[in-house]
Amino acid sequence: MSDTTNPAPATVPPCGPIPLIDLVAQFRSQETEILAAVTKVFTEQKFILGEEVAQLEAESAAYCDARFAIGCASGTDALILALMACDLPPGGEVITSPFTFFATGSSIWRCGGKPVFVDIDPLSFNLDPSAVAAAVTANTRSIMPVHIFGQCAEMDPLWRLATRHGLSIVEDACQSIGAAYKGRKAGVLGSVGCFSYFPTKNLGGAGDGGLMTTDDEQIAKRLKRLRVHGDIGVYEHLEVGLNSRLDAIQAAVLRIKQRKLDEWTLARQRNARRYSMLFDEYGLLDVVTPPPVLPERRHVFNQYCVRITDGMRDTVLKSLRASQIGCGIYYPKPLHLQTCFGSLGYKAGMLPVAEKACTEVLALPIFPELREDQQEEVVKGLARAFGRKATRRPSAAVPKPKFLSTGDRVSNASEEDGWATR
Ligand SMILES: Cc1ncc(COP(=O)(O)O)c(C=O)c1O
Repeated sequence: MSDTTNPAPATVPPCGPIPLIDLVAQFRSQETEILAAVTKVFTEQKFILGEEVAQLEAESAAYCDARFAIGCASGTDALILALMACDLPPGGEVITSPFTFFATGSSIWRCGGKPVFVDIDPLSFNLDPSAVAAAVTANTRSIMPVHIFGQCAEMDPLWRLATRHGLSIVEDACQSIGAAYKGRKAGVLGSVGCFSYFPTKNLGGAGDGGLMTTDDEQIAKRLKRLRVHGDIGVYEHLEVGLNSRLDAIQAAVLRIKQRKLDEWTLARQRNARRYSMLFDEYGLLDVVTPPPVLPERRHVFNQYCVRITDGMRDTVLKSLRASQIGCGIYYPKPLHLQTCFGSLGYKAGMLPVAEKACTEVLALPIFPELREDQQEEVVKGLARAFGRKATRRPSAAVPKPKFLSTGDRVSNASEEDGWATR
């Protein structure tokens, strides 16, 4: 039993503070190449779009199995440009998740559309397809699934809905580069895929950046135009777009980093498996629920968010932070309850699964360079936060988390090994 009224005093791990993410360690592993690539851009003095960006786009299209990839200034802009390219009319409804980063909802709002937030699936934290189906109206124009934390949403029912009602699908794949669903990569699971190169993403730049992918040539043409003020060249503007160009320095850095992306993803998946084993060995599976990997998914673990139930999440967070163990809450408040969306009329209690998730999720370090000893200290810190003795007992098998009643349908470890993407 936990003695949560009297948790053990916080102690800094013997390995020192453990960050939630360690970008310095990652940079050190490619420092020489990255600095050379940046120096080359300075030498050439071609800072915006140009050859580096074109090369990154070609390499990213190949990586995402997309016909076209178009760079832009951020993941937020990618979402806005994608909605513009899909002709979202003023007041057009876009059905999306409330359990996500703010930009998912704000991009719809910025385009003059109406975000329609529906509840999520409690296992994956992704859009619940039946809630999406129930929210379709005559004004619906698009569905914006978010592949949250690095795992793809359930896309088959969304495709069927989109086809039946003539809707576009704009994938918010900002956290999910390299993720896959039934053998197809995130980014080609809808009309347009949107990625973020924010530094903490699995493929992060040296500042802001974004990418859009599509298999549709007309949409690709339009996205290219929209990112440069709707200009078709020679100062001829067909429509009003944005100034949302990707810098050559970002592209140069990202091209170097993309070469290691699959290796880093494997390391993230290994770390996820190791957490599952450690939670079992430290007897924590009754209080800590690891994130499941759904069947036929490639989960890339941009975040590793466990569930901490019984109202203990904030106590655990405080205890870990006092022990200098990095952790975070993604997300503390769902989008439908954000003040700025008040005029949409949502009230607390309307989307209960998302609201509950906001009170229970806790992100733990999962970055590729995380060492085994550091990971064990995170788990020991969790045990102490629950007032338990941090003692390990060996376990033969990787455990099944307690809330997974779907039997073999779901595993709590990565399913990287064994199946290919398109
Ligand atoms: C789910 C999601 N959507 C959109 C964005 C926006 O991306 P950016 O920060 O590059 O604008 C992010 C980035 O944090 C995100 O995680």
